[in-house]
Amino acid sequence: MELLKKRILEDAEFVGKDVLKVDMFLNHQIDVNLLDQIGKEFYRRFADDKVSKILTIEASGIGIACMTARYFNVPVVFAKKGQNCNIGDDVYMTEIASFTKGTSACVCVSKKYVGPGDRILIIDDFLAHGSALSGLIEIINEAAADFVGAGIVIEKGFQPGGKLLRERGVRVESLALVESIGDGKITFG
Ligand code: G4P
Repeated sequence: MELLKKRILEDAEFVGKDVLKVDMFLNHQIDVNLLDQIGKEFYRRFADDKVSKILTIEASGIGIACMTARYFNVPVVFAKKGQNCNIGDDVYMTEIASFTKGTSACVCVSKKYVGPGDRILIIDDFLAHGSALSGLIEIINEAAADFVGAGIVIEKGFQPGGKLLRERGVRVESLALVESIGDGKITFG
């Protein structure tokens, strides 16, 4: 998605060798018009997949999922993390490791909101090691819902998540594939 790549080139900052900081339009301040275009592009890619629900994970996925859901006209469910998991006993639960933050968190989704008959599209901001995506897929499988695919805003191709998930047969659609961020320069795939 050219508009997104242009914005990354203009505004992204680097943290260390492998983290891209996009706080100015995606992760802290949010450019709603850009998010609207992102939602429209996800809709173009998954329009024929009979999506009935969008699943994401707090926090940064929520805004993107909501803007996307307006195009599909379906609800958004977000997986809750850690102490936010106090939503009752009737939940699907899994553990997600964050390589970037060096932590791991228990995430959960109420059985009320995901179940058999749902056709679920996962939306998230970053794909790095793929643990968030794998955890959400686990929850969808446990719920016996159908998993349509994953829409990712920025995939980091130099980290293994995308490759591993595609090898498992997962449909991953990334709007910007960043292949490297060496020497202060971003290369797209
Ligand atoms: P994964 O998301 O593929 O599982 O990889 P990883 O474990 O490395 O990512 C952990 C968290 O860091 C995720 O956010 C992910 O979106 C974010 N992340 C990964 N790489 C980058 C990056 O280059 N830049 C930025 N800005 N974020 C990155 P999270 O823990 O779910 O937290 P939240 O930010 O959504 O609250």
